[in-house]
Amino acid sequence: MAFTLKLKNLNLTSSVFQSPMAGCTDLAFRLVARKFGMQMAYPEMISAEALVRQTRLTLDMMKTVPEDRPLGLQLVGSDPDRMAEAAQIVEEMGFDLVDVNIGCPVKKVTGQCAGSALLREPARAREIFKKMSDAVERIPLTVKLRLGYSDASGKEAITIAREAEDAGFSAVAVHGRTRSQGYTGKADYEAIGCVKKALKIPVIGNGDVRDQKSARELLEKSGCDAVMIGRGALGNPRIYALIDAVIEHRDVPPPLTLEEKRQALRLHLEYLLNFEGEWALPKMRRIGVWYFMGEPGVAQFREKIQRCEHVSEMRELIESFNLLPLEDKSDLKAVA
Ligand SMILES: Cc1cc2nc3c(=O)[nH]c(=O)nc-3n(C[C@H](O)[C@H](O)[C@H](O)COP(=O)(O)O)c2cc1C
Repeated sequence: MAFTLKLKNLNLTSSVFQSPMAGCTDLAFRLVARKFGMQMAYPEMISAEALVRQTRLTLDMMKTVPEDRPLGLQLVGSDPDRMAEAAQIVEEMGFDLVDVNIGCPVKKVTGQCAGSALLREPARAREIFKKMSDAVERIPLTVKLRLGYSDASGKEAITIAREAEDAGFSAVAVHGRTRSQGYTGKADYEAIGCVKKALKIPVIGNGDVRDQKSARELLEKSGCDAVMIGRGALGNPRIYALIDAVIEHRDVPPPLTLEEKRQALRLHLEYLLNFEGEWALPKMRRIGVWYFMGEPGVAQFREKIQRCEHVSEMRELIESFNLLPLEDKSDLKAVA
């Protein structure tokens, strides 16, 4: 039977979620990924305080279009009233889900008792969940957390996740690392499994899923209901469809060809130009290289794209990447 995950009034038919990533999962990224089969997505985390104040930068980060659905919004913050107020705004703005960030390891965030700092503050987390639950009427609430602050057993995650479950939250996503680990080491799928076993609501496993093998390993070791993919999707928009096919025992789509990578990058540039105007160029200097990772010549491409001053130059660079240089072509002629 085909997969369905019902989170309140949100029905998902793919068990693969896009993981929110600051500086990465903007509208252009999501639209490219959706072309290749991604379903549930999120912009980067949004500060509840900034959203309540409706700062221009925050509203920009929440930019979306009708075809960018289903779309969740992740809030980061520590003040229960502000989190509830922000959640209500998110619902009014038409997002399909609100998520709470209890994983961000950055000092600026944890210093304000937000992000992963809440792993050690169950009473405050309870208050946040309860107030958000009271404030939001229709859309599902979820939480994304790490295993613990520095305790890798998963105990802290279980305590917080149970609070969310008791407050009526619909699902929990678990990144299999602690705050102390940052992004080092390997995500612990067995520890994610401990969280899964302790809960009745669906659990989404996250961390180091890059291919079929790692997706299978996460699902087998953790028993999770779904998978969330972050860095593995940078420059690889087909990964969602690939992992979904693995889980559903369908034929797995082939990896992207060079031409498909070029097509995806071209599309990403056009979306950025459309939605970000003058910011497209600096963003492309950073992300353009994602799509050609692993291809021969990527180092020179990175160097050139970082020096690009004009869109036309960037387009040309994308179109000419890995086409044989002239002298090589004459070599081929000689062989023929
Ligand atoms: C550049 C970057 C930005 C991130 N931003 C967020 C964020 O805004 N919210 C969040 O919950 N996690 C964020 N994360 C964590 C990822 O969503 C994910 O949990 C983590 O990278 C592990 O999954 P992965 O191995 O599939 O990337 C970020 C990670 C990276 C590398």
